[in-house]
Amino acid sequence: MAKFIVPKEIYHGIGSLENVKELKGKKAVIVIGGSSVKKNGALQRTQAYLAEANISSVVFEGVEADPSIETVLKGAQFFSQEQPDVIIGLGGCSAIDAAKTMWVYYEYPDSKLEELAQPFAVKPLRNKAIFVAIPTTSGTGTEITGLAVITNTEKGTKHPIVSHELTPDVAIVDGELCKSMPAHVTANTGLDALSHAVEAYVSNIADRYNDALAKNATDLIFNYLPTAVSEPQNEEARQAMHDASCMAGMAFTNVWLGIVHAMSHQLGGTFGIPHGCANAILMPNVIRFNSQVTDKYNDLAAVLGKTNAEELAEEIAALRSKVGTISSIKEYGIDEQVWADHLDQLTENALKDPCTLFNPRVPKAEEIKAIYQACFEGTAINF
Ligand SMILES: NC(=O)c1ccc[n+]([C@@H]2O[C@H](COP(=O)([O-])OP(=O)(O)OC[C@H]3O[C@@H](n4cnc5c(N)ncnc54)[C@H](O)[C@@H]3O)[C@@H](O)[C@H]2O)c1
Ligand SMILES: [Zn+2]
Repeated sequence: MAKFIVPKEIYHGIGSLENVKELKGKKAVIVIGGSSVKKNGALQRTQAYLAEANISSVVFEGVEADPSIETVLKGAQFFSQEQPDVIIGLGGCSAIDAAKTMWVYYEYPDSKLEELAQPFAVKPLRNKAIFVAIPTTSGTGTEITGLAVITNTEKGTKHPIVSHELTPDVAIVDGELCKSMPAHVTANTGLDALSHAVEAYVSNIADRYNDALAKNATDLIFNYLPTAVSEPQNEEARQAMHDASCMAGMAFTNVWLGIVHAMSHQLGGTFGIPHGCANAILMPNVIRFNSQVTDKYNDLAAVLGKTNAEELAEEIAALRSKVGTISSIKEYGIDEQVWADHLDQLTENALKDPCTLFNPRVPKAEEIKAIYQACFEGTAINF
C-alpha cells in the first residue's frame, strides 16, 4: 500500500501566474528574498492580480539564502501583526521554505525548531491561512513538497522539517519567472532536480506513480537544461525545466531520496558546496555503487537512448560539464589535508542522514568513504 500527496491545485505554463486572480481571501502576505522578484516584475504582477481578486497584500522581504530561524521568527511576528489568510512564498526555495516555516509559527507561536525537525511533528495547519507557492528557481520542487529546510545559524546546523502539512495548497509553476535566473543558479538547481528524479526512481519505496514522474523529469532535464543555461530567455526550455523540477518534486516528496542527498547535505553544511553542484559530483559514483543491487538505472539509461547504469553515469557527468559545473570536490578549492581531516565525520553524518534509509543499497562506512574519496579526486569508482 502507498499514498500519493501533492497540492490540491497546480497551475503550470508560461503566464500561469495570472491564476493568482483565482485565489480567495482577504489579506495576503507575500514572502520574498532579495530584489530579483522586483527586478523581473513578478512581485508587482502578483500584487496586481491579488488586487483584482480583492485581496489586499503586504510584503515581507529579506529572506536570505539558506534561511535562518531568526528570519522565520521575524516573519512570524509580521504575520501576527498583519493577520493574513493567504500566505504566498514567491522566489527561490529559500524564500518559500522560510514562508512555510513562518506559517507554522504563525499558527503555533510556541513552536520550537528542534521539535519541528522531528519526523511529522508539524500540527494541523490551515486554521489561519492557506499557502501558495510560486517558485522562481527550477530545482528543489518546494512548491510540491512537504518539506522546508531551516538553518540554525548559532549552531551551524540545517534542519529539514518534514510533514505533509507543509505541502502547499496551491502551486504556480510559471517558467516566465525563471528567465532572470543566472546561469550558474540555473545549472545547479537543474542538476538538483535531476538528482531528485534519479534518486526517487531507485528509492526502496518507489512505486509506479512516482516512477512515471521521475522518468519524465529525467527526459526533460537532459533535453532542456543546456538550453535553459545558454539561452535564459528561451521560454520553452524555462517551462520544461520548471515542469521537470515540479514533477521530480512530486516523486521525491512521496518516495524520498538516497545517499546522493545524504552525502551532499554534509558537503553543503561543512564546505558550503552548492547543493545541486554537490549532487551532480556524487551522482555518477553513487549510481555505480547502487547498480550492483538494482537494475532500475537501465530504465533511466533507456530514456537517453542508452542501455546500462555505467552509460547513465557517464551521461550525467557529460551533462554536468556541458552546463559548466565542476566535476570533483577538489575543484571547489578544498585543500587535501582539510578534506582528509573531515572525511570520517562526513561519513558518519552521511550514514545518519534520514535519506540513507531510502537508498536501494545499505552502505557500509568504508563504502561511503570510498565514494567520497573518488568524488574528491574526480575519478570513477569500481565496485
Ligand atoms: N523544501 C524543499 O523541498 C527543499 C529541497 C532541497 C533543498 N532545499 C533548500 O532550498 C534552498 C535552496 O533553494 P534554491 O536552490 O531555490 O536557491 P535560493 O532560493 O537560495 O536562490 C538562490 C539565489 O538565486 C536568486 N534567485 C532565485 N530566483 C531567481 C530569479 N528568477 N532570477 C534571479 N535570481 C533569482 C536568489 O535571490 C538567490 O540569490 C536551500 O536552503 C536548501 O537547503 C529545500
Ligand atoms: Zn536536492
